[in-house]
Amino acid sequence: MLTSEQISPDKIQADYAAAFTQTLGRVQAVTAEGGLVIFTCENGKLAVGRVRTGIIRIKLFAGAGPEDPIHLRTTEAVIGYDENSGGKEEELQVSDTESAYIIETDGITIEVAKHDSSLRFLNESGQIMAHNPLLAWNEDKAAAALFQATANTHYYGLGEKTGFLDKRGERYEMWNSDNFSPHVPEIDALYQSIPFLIVGEPGNAYGIFLDNPGRSVFDMRGSEQAFSIHTETGGVDYYFIAGPQIKDVVGRYTALTGRIQLPPRWSIGYHQSRYSYMDQEEVLELARTFREREIPCDVIHLDIHYMNEYRVFTFDPVRFPDPKAMIAELKSFGIRIVPIVDPGVKFDPDYHVYQEGADSGFFCMKPDGTPFIGPVWPGQSVFPDFSEAKVGEWWGSLHRFYTEMGIEGIWNDMNEPSVFNECKTIEPDTLHGNNGHPATHGEIHNLYGMMMSKATAEGMANNLDGRRPFVLSRAGYAGIQRYAAVWTGDNRSYWEHMALAIPMVLNLGLSGVAFAGPDIGGFGHHTTGELLARWTQMGALFPFCRNHSMIDTVRQEPWSFGTDVENICRDYISLRYSLMPLIYSVFREAAETGMPVIRPLLLEYPDDPHTVNLCDQFLLGDQILAAPVYRPDTYHRVVYLPEGNWFDYWTGERRQGGSHFMAHAPLDTLPLYVKEGAIIPRTAPAASTEFQRSPELLLDIYTPASGEGSFDLYDDDGTTYAFKDNSYNLYRLTVEGAEGAVTLRVHPASHGYAEGWKKWTVTFKHLRFAGCRLDFGTEAQDREELEALAEGWHFDRAAGELTVVMDQPLEDLELVVNAL
Ligand code: GLC
Repeated sequence: MLTSEQISPDKIQADYAAAFTQTLGRVQAVTAEGGLVIFTCENGKLAVGRVRTGIIRIKLFAGAGPEDPIHLRTTEAVIGYDENSGGKEEELQVSDTESAYIIETDGITIEVAKHDSSLRFLNESGQIMAHNPLLAWNEDKAAAALFQATANTHYYGLGEKTGFLDKRGERYEMWNSDNFSPHVPEIDALYQSIPFLIVGEPGNAYGIFLDNPGRSVFDMRGSEQAFSIHTETGGVDYYFIAGPQIKDVVGRYTALTGRIQLPPRWSIGYHQSRYSYMDQEEVLELARTFREREIPCDVIHLDIHYMNEYRVFTFDPVRFPDPKAMIAELKSFGIRIVPIVDPGVKFDPDYHVYQEGADSGFFCMKPDGTPFIGPVWPGQSVFPDFSEAKVGEWWGSLHRFYTEMGIEGIWNDMNEPSVFNECKTIEPDTLHGNNGHPATHGEIHNLYGMMMSKATAEGMANNLDGRRPFVLSRAGYAGIQRYAAVWTGDNRSYWEHMALAIPMVLNLGLSGVAFAGPDIGGFGHHTTGELLARWTQMGALFPFCRNHSMIDTVRQEPWSFGTDVENICRDYISLRYSLMPLIYSVFREAAETGMPVIRPLLLEYPDDPHTVNLCDQFLLGDQILAAPVYRPDTYHRVVYLPEGNWFDYWTGERRQGGSHFMAHAPLDTLPLYVKEGAIIPRTAPAASTEFQRSPELLLDIYTPASGEGSFDLYDDDGTTYAFKDNSYNLYRLTVEGAEGAVTLRVHPASHGYAEGWKKWTVTFKHLRFAGCRLDFGTEAQDREELEALAEGWHFDRAAGELTVVMDQPLEDLELVVNAL
């Protein structure tokens, strides 16, 4: 416990922002080579490079003299250099005016002021997008970059941070930390560090990605007129990412650092976890209970007690005498196992993982050449040096232990890495080989967890015979999305933490991490039935959906609080399963474009001032809006619907957007709204995605009175990489409403997956026609055949619903519903 002693006068420290007195000064020479321009300045050098359309890299070489070599290596975060950049085809041209050098590329003009080497980024109309007036450093080579801001500047991204959606007035540190203190606004570093800031101003948005995996600080607190970035080691190496919309910035950032891989469908199902399910029988009983109680579930996680004295790549022979048989039995329930794997390898000369790693010199070494040893769950442990490709390959290959048992997913925890020592991690002067470019742990700390998950994902993929692996990671850096889903660590069963999860996961999504979620119900502390019900409602629509709780807390499986809460949990988990065709399609969009699975309203409605810091509502894709209740004993809440018309998902009530209203939300109701023009694909819920091979697709059309709606519906086998060889179906669905007619068009952009839906039940909801006549204006399919199919249509005039059943796979189709 901390007391007021904490703030006694002698403890007040000087501001961390020690004077950065040294700056580049005047430009003295300019050389251009390929996609790169080097400015040699009085006190250092500055590199300006074109990376790809809309992305410019700026690297400061503090103190470099004219003859000093420079290097432009990036970290593993960056994969998106386009082929024409970096010295090949596209030559950057430099011109100059009296006061500045000018570089023009892909609609961005970069101005470097001659007298002080400051930078400005302008768009095609000559408007300043970003102004970086200062790059500076001090004697310890700590560096800083200052950017101009205004009273109208808002900040997003930055990965996994506490606080609201808009990070205005906040200051955060980037240093992956296992922080078990309750996650409150004062916690400025958690498990993930994604040094990517999105800056939003009226009519302008841009991103700054700082590619520095050491400790850094993003300070939006110091002044309204500026924000600044500080680095402790490694200097300033940043990427300016042009907008003009936040969507453009997110798209470009994820082109630079990568997008999620399309996950196996089972990993999008419901996960149940607990620290820990103690033995084989408890796990099987848990699975049986899910089935008996008819609650969908795809995954059970095994926490640290499955291991033999916490040795990774082992099972405890007493608690789990026959894991293979257990896994096979679970498979018959449609349930998969995801075991935890931490990076700490027990320091035990009789343990084969320790022996192999030690013999090959694969563990992190102290400057004196002996392994760094620190305590974690297994006691004294050593830590693989994941900065070395060969170590990653070795670690990946160890996962055969799991895949041979039928395991397809791994949970990476404690990979900041967390060490139970004074500095809470590997000591900063510990050495990493870094594939021939040695670095201290302090310099690359934030990469450790991501490199572990990379090794895990690649190792699993190599051993799964063409099936997609699932990896879940606690720690990460920019690019983690390529290898793992992310959960937000050790939250508590507090209502505040349920509320906090919304902006946290939304900002993770804006930072490239589309597949993320909190521990539903809360990890530490003790949940209540009401909190679990509300949190499950919300979590059922989050990308990653796992209920997890800590040892010695009250049980929080869905049935732990009586029938009412159980029913609510069942209903909402089932809702997730029935929306699986939609959710899977949105995941595919995330994999293709980088757009998050759940989105802040500001991403879709950037010009609406009500969305700037809207933290308690979110969109699933761009068609469904959720407004969770996150306070106890609360049955009403204010909801904001942006422009357009919306329908209450439960009652069908129509509401005009652009306004706030009071929604009624009894405990069994999550306020949910669907946009007019939405096309919502559903299917029958099932106990597991494994059994969800229902041949029937339900397509709900929220019929627009006028205007259009569209949806890209995606389907494949859900488990293999066959989709990469075109074995997938992608239907471009559009609906158009006009006076007296509604037209649905189905256009299969790809139909390489033969096992797709065989029966389509299309429901036009909210039709305001007195009667209907159907017209199949298709050329691709036999008109008579389709008309015959339309025998299966039904119009419920009172409900305003027309249902058309088409009992065959769909090819090109145009279905016009005419008013009678
Ligand atoms: C860490 C993890 C938590 C896990 C526990 C035991 O606290 O964040 O999810 O249950 O370790 O492995």
